[in-house]
Amino acid sequence: MIPNILINWYRTKRSNERIRQFSFNSDATSDIKRDIQEKYKHDSQLLDLFANNKGGIVHKWHHYIPLYDRYFSSFRGPKIRFLEIGVSNGGSLHLWRKYFGDDAIIFGIDINPKCEKLNGLDGQVRIGSQTDRCFLESVVKEMGGVDIILDDGSHHMDHIPATLKYLFPHLSYGGIYMIEDLHAAYWRRFGGGYRSKNNFFRFAMDLIDDMHHWYHRNKLKQAAISKDCSGIHIHDSILVLEKNKVFKPVHSRVGV
Ligand SMILES: C[S@@+](CC[C@H](N)C(=O)[O-])C[C@H]1O[C@@H](n2cnc3c(N)ncnc32)[C@H](O)[C@@H]1O
Repeated sequence: MIPNILINWYRTKRSNERIRQFSFNSDATSDIKRDIQEKYKHDSQLLDLFANNKGGIVHKWHHYIPLYDRYFSSFRGPKIRFLEIGVSNGGSLHLWRKYFGDDAIIFGIDINPKCEKLNGLDGQVRIGSQTDRCFLESVVKEMGGVDIILDDGSHHMDHIPATLKYLFPHLSYGGIYMIEDLHAAYWRRFGGGYRSKNNFFRFAMDLIDDMHHWYHRNKLKQAAISKDCSGIHIHDSILVLEKNKVFKPVHSRVGV
């Protein structure tokens, strides 16, 4: 019988090796920027902020930058309420502060008490777990509601859907719920695996089935989310849910 500690050590080593093979082979700002510009035909202030970041380390996959900008840019301006799960060194909170501006209400949560020292720098930091419903509800209450939620926390398959189920009902109409680093759904270290029943994309499939409930006879599987989920977007390692009122679809014939 292999002890769990050894299994976990081996899985961590394997997933670190997997991540390393995708490392971009230059730290130069100009190279990072050019790579994103050329591959994704993307140019934005967010790209400049990321490539020129002089704050705490922010570690992002290159293809995330255009996606953040695509889904978040319409929220730039006064009083947007943004919650990031997973603060780490505070690098991304710094990026979001620059991107959304001084008036944005930016909160980050992390289970690691060391993140407390970042409180008040680029946003409010609260310490607690993304699996603690009361904690999440208290943070949203303190924020006065929430318009964008970005889950970059534990990436664990037990946590991601639990957090989504707690928080999606609190998201404002017109809001966005984004989950990143979903390559973890394929890794056992994060409770996932290829075609595993715990792989988060299985849960996402429930949401897709629910969205199309008009066309089959099965009940909503995730009603608390699906009743107000107006859009589901899947990109490499990113899932985006749009929250809005959902109407029974109708169709018309127009023309001669
Ligand atoms: C990938 S890092 C976040 C990086 C940060 N968003 C950035 O881009 O700079 C993930 C963070 O999630 C935190 N975390 C892990 N499990 C958590 C949990 N159950 N609840 C809240 N945060 C958790 C870790 O302590 C870690 O700081």
